[in-house]
Amino acid sequence: MPPPTPHLLIDAEIAERNHQRLLDYLREHGLCLRAHTKTHKIKKLGELQAGPMSVGLTVAKVGEADVMATVCDDLLLAYPIVDNARAERVAALANQVNIRVAVDSKLAIQTLSDAAGARAVPPEIGILVDMDVGYGRTGVQTPADSLELAQFVDATQHVRLDGLFIYPGHVRGTLDEQTTTLTVVDAKVQQATGLWLEHGLEPAIVSSGSTPSAYHSHLVRAVTEIRPGTYIYNDMNTVRGGYCTIGDCAARLVCTVVSNAVPGQVVIDAGSKTLTMDPSIDGPNAGFGAIVEYPEARIARLSEEHGQVDITNCPNAPQLGERVHVIPNHICPCSNLQNEVWWLDRTVNDEPQRIPVDARGALV
Ligand SMILES: Cc1ncc(COP(=O)(O)O)c(C=O)c1O
Repeated sequence: MPPPTPHLLIDAEIAERNHQRLLDYLREHGLCLRAHTKTHKIKKLGELQAGPMSVGLTVAKVGEADVMATVCDDLLLAYPIVDNARAERVAALANQVNIRVAVDSKLAIQTLSDAAGARAVPPEIGILVDMDVGYGRTGVQTPADSLELAQFVDATQHVRLDGLFIYPGHVRGTLDEQTTTLTVVDAKVQQATGLWLEHGLEPAIVSSGSTPSAYHSHLVRAVTEIRPGTYIYNDMNTVRGGYCTIGDCAARLVCTVVSNAVPGQVVIDAGSKTLTMDPSIDGPNAGFGAIVEYPEARIARLSEEHGQVDITNCPNAPQLGERVHVIPNHICPCSNLQNEVWWLDRTVNDEPQRIPVDARGALV
């Protein structure tokens, strides 16, 4: 009996192929991988990503770190920690595995230092100084500011200066467009690392990475490791941005057509609680995902459990009770809404196997 819908089906062959393709690129350019596991939150995939070419895993939250620490002993927490409760959990974890945190404030550094110092055996927490290279979300604003924070880490107990952290989330588009933007990023990173070296501080790690820019990471010359997350599954944002094809999408929501009562429309059993309200980045009118079997259909409107699909441009209408495969706009928040995924590895079994989303809901 196939699993009930809606459920998230993972094609193992596609996920492994996406991963392999990235490893080939990394090998060619002498870069290391520290894959971001927030995309899938699954230990089994974390184990795969902690394999060849990997220096460890990235997580966004301490709860994700707790989970991924069971499969990997080198973690980067790519999120600022400024409160004692979280810092204490990081310090406890740092007694068991090597943990680094990307931070952009003295408060974060001091909070982590205090939490480590309060442990019976104080661990050393690695610090990467987060510098904004254009996305405008977190990160100190200038190379001089990055030096100031690096010097503060160097002078603080129980924390260890490991390097620089950037997130090129604004880097999208064609190779030419990305080259232009990444040239600016490269100049800023060169300035920062140059300043550090002049002041006797070594940025041993320069951590960057995203899925759209993954294959151009080498254009920022100082980068040592990259943190793409979405690449393992891909989604419609990755497809519409031109970074992969539908055939490279490993995660598909299997849904059932539950109503065709309204002319020109069918309803699928996936609404905002399954697909999320995330819009399409590169196609504002593209709707809330794509139905693989009906490319002309548009998932036009979502309520919690209903997806209203405009089928007026479809040569054939989806039938009541039919199962369809939907690729969401943004897979990462969809993963977080699933207790389990169905893992289809045709080399082992024609039936998908249920596996838990281990860090599902680990938002703290
Ligand atoms: C800090 C950081 N690093 C890496 C990533 C991974 O980027 P992507 O989802 O494009 O693979 C993200 C994604 O949001 C991020 O926030």
